[in-house]
Amino acid sequence: MRMKPTFSIVGAGRVGRALGHSLREHGWQVNCVITRSQRTARAAVRVIGDGIACSTLAPELLDSQVVFITTPDGALSSVAAELAARLTRRGGKSWRGRIVLHTSGALDRSVLAPLQKMGAATGSIHPMQSFSSGSVPPLQGVLFGIEGDRRAVAMARRIARDLGGIAAVIPAGRKVAYHTAAVMVAALGMGLLESAIQVLTSAGFTRQLAMQSLLKLMRQMLSDAERKGTRKAWTGPLARGDFATIAAHGRALRKHPREIRAAYEALSRVTVKTLGTHPERVMRELNAALSTRPGGLR
Ligand SMILES: NC(=O)c1ccc[n+]([C@@H]2O[C@H](COP(=O)([O-])OP(=O)(O)OC[C@H]3O[C@@H](n4cnc5c(N)ncnc54)[C@H](OP(=O)(O)O)[C@@H]3O)[C@@H](O)[C@H]2O)c1
Repeated sequence: MRMKPTFSIVGAGRVGRALGHSLREHGWQVNCVITRSQRTARAAVRVIGDGIACSTLAPELLDSQVVFITTPDGALSSVAAELAARLTRRGGKSWRGRIVLHTSGALDRSVLAPLQKMGAATGSIHPMQSFSSGSVPPLQGVLFGIEGDRRAVAMARRIARDLGGIAAVIPAGRKVAYHTAAVMVAALGMGLLESAIQVLTSAGFTRQLAMQSLLKLMRQMLSDAERKGTRKAWTGPLARGDFATIAAHGRALRKHPREIRAAYEALSRVTVKTLGTHPERVMRELNAALSTRPGGLR
């Protein structure tokens, strides 16, 4: 059987810990686990189930075949520059032959240029999954957006395959659009859910019942979208042309933070634009019902 690669993680937070844990479960061998403090590095080792809590400049990094840099996007270029400048050789080993992958959805491999100059193959592997602290989400069936030079892409494909995911090569110039779509449904979807919970609790529901009932509704909406497609699954007052109801919603939202009302209005317009069959006529009626300028806040 083919030996599983060895790997290290620089910046073991939500994604680094989950990726490390999952790869280890699939037989990969973890080497260094790095954060900026021994305390968080040791906590990450516990989640991953193996590895040594190291510092960024641990020469053992060069013993790994694959180095994941899973810091926040904003730290990637400085971490890559620091690694390239200050960690150059260990015994006969250097960055030449190593594969360095970051997990940002929006950035491409160019942010790892200092390591590429030192001879590493560089790329990115972005699991299109939501990683929150304290849990390891399933990666089976998850899309991994990958990008990089030939060796890095081959390794990223192998990682996706080993974890039961689906590898999709994303050209560097399309990564931002790719990531925008993911953020719209995951991170921003959470803001939408929380807003709806607050509106429902203002109608007298407990937070628990609000959460339970809205999640049930969302799950059905997602299941319908999956089975029938978004256009056929679309329902609600806009789909029916119940503009008086929409006007009432607009009034009810006046006592909530103006951003919630703005989100309701913006999403109504987006829905008409993307799903409506007569968008221009419906948009006029919608604007009248909301009786405000498009995009405006009263
Ligand atoms: N969260 C998601 O759902 C998700 C999904 C897909 C991809 N991603 C991508 O994955 C990457 C990591 O995201 P995340 O959510 O896992 O972030 P995170 O939970 O904030 O983890 C980042 C980790 O990096 C460490 N760190 C920060 N600066 C560092 C430095 N200079 N040197 C070494 N370690 C450093 C932090 O630990 P200390 O503070 O203890 O040093 C922390 O453990 C990002 O590029 C993000 O876009 C995130």
